[in-house]
Amino acid sequence: MLIAQISDTHITAPGTNTCGVAPMADNLERCITHINQLEPKPDVVLLTGDVTNGGTVEEARHAAQLLTKLESPFYVIPGNHDAAGVLSLVFGEAVCPAGDYVLDNGPVRLIGMDSTDPGKPGGKITAAQAEWLEGQLANEPDKPTIIFIHHPPVKCSVIESDEDGFIGADLLGQVVAGFSNIERILCGHIHLLVHARWHGTIVTTAPSMGMQLGLDLTMEKEAEFYLNQPGYLLHYWTKHKNLITHAVSLESAQGPYRFEEH
Ligand SMILES: [Fe+2]
Ligand SMILES: [Fe+2]
Repeated sequence: MLIAQISDTHITAPGTNTCGVAPMADNLERCITHINQLEPKPDVVLLTGDVTNGGTVEEARHAAQLLTKLESPFYVIPGNHDAAGVLSLVFGEAVCPAGDYVLDNGPVRLIGMDSTDPGKPGGKITAAQAEWLEGQLANEPDKPTIIFIHHPPVKCSVIESDEDGFIGADLLGQVVAGFSNIERILCGHIHLLVHARWHGTIVTTAPSMGMQLGLDLTMEKEAEFYLNQPGYLLHYWTKHKNLITHAVSLESAQGPYRFEEH
């Protein structure tokens, strides 16, 4: 099973750049073209939030129109830049169900969760959501499972998102710790590729599609972003029953070369 993950596309109105400089619609189109040419084709593409930059209907429609070119089925969860209700309305309940949902068609179970806290940049999971998740996990405790959720529940040494926090991360952690079949928690939000062990599983955050956060481990500078080549993640559930993650960058590479000739 092959899962592509696109995150933090921050799409704005047609003909505009995000924050005036980032050509996110072009970047998304390039990624879609790249994903469509993959062999094998992804069974599913997950958009892990901040699909739009300002949460408007116009932006969501623009994103939806760009994504019609994607040849694999895709699913959406909201991020803090989105309005969850607008995404569900524009994409439809089949692509962006309101609230949390389970996709159980393939060998890996996919559980999408809404971590948005309207009007706030940080993440939030309620006690009811944690209980719902526990019930869903208890239904299939042996099947490999991925949880996809916009906000990483672990601090990633990124000043802005660490300070914004994640209300209910402990509740989520307690549920996750009770199951050994959670292969990964896939997130977006921080615009950097990060892996962190958390409550017996691995949290992976995807890079943004061309708005890379400046890495500042001193955690003293204000958050800034750089325009970089767009990219996305490929999560491959192999015949050996391992989930392998590849980071794909659309940077033009030279090659291929053979190892033995050099
Ligand atoms: Fe974002
Ligand atoms: Fe975000």
